[in-house]
Amino acid sequence: MTERREPPARNDAWPPSAVIYDAETIAARVRALAAEIDAAYEAEDRLLVVGLLKGSFIFLADLVRALSMPVQVDFLVVSSYGDAKVSSGRVRLEYAARSSMEGRNVLLVEDIVDSGTTLEDVVPRLLGLGARSVEICTLLHKRLGGSRHEPRFVGFDAPNAFLVGYGLDHAEDFRQLPYIASL
Ligand code: IMP
Ligand code: MG
Repeated sequence: MTERREPPARNDAWPPSAVIYDAETIAARVRALAAEIDAAYEAEDRLLVVGLLKGSFIFLADLVRALSMPVQVDFLVVSSYGDAKVSSGRVRLEYAARSSMEGRNVLLVEDIVDSGTTLEDVVPRLLGLGARSVEICTLLHKRLGGSRHEPRFVGFDAPNAFLVGYGLDHAEDFRQLPYIASL
């Protein structure tokens, strides 16, 4: 396609060129994470993979396809950022998973853990709904906040930059990139 595409209506270049993790690097890491998860659970655990939308949609799709054991999939929608690059510190639940959490082993899938505010809100919520266990799998971890809910499965220790692509957005732009870049 030679047609020139209009960039997003901000100061961000399209497409962003400061690549932090390219598609091959991500794919290899996702396969390794899936192997870790396969080793940590038994098929009898009836694992329920719960993705936090929207940021986790691409990561979750790749991750579950790399798992060998049977899982079920559901989603939660929370928002904490609005259009800003720093967390508002308040988490709003916009959509709750329809699956029953009662007695389930839940694997919460996040795109990126920054301050940990989202997990502080969501993990107790899931336990309150009767989940037997809640473990967290995040593609990226900035390791900023000393969260009480540390992810058990981490893709990459991310630099303290604002990252976009592979599901991550800035004001809803850039989610489609097959790689992760910094703005
Ligand atoms: P926390 O609640 O501060 O840990 O932030 C978690 C959520 O903020 C993530 O699920 C993302 O949606 C968003 N977020 C945090 N850092 C970034 C970033 O660098 N790029 C895009 N979104 C981010
Ligand atoms: Mg998110």
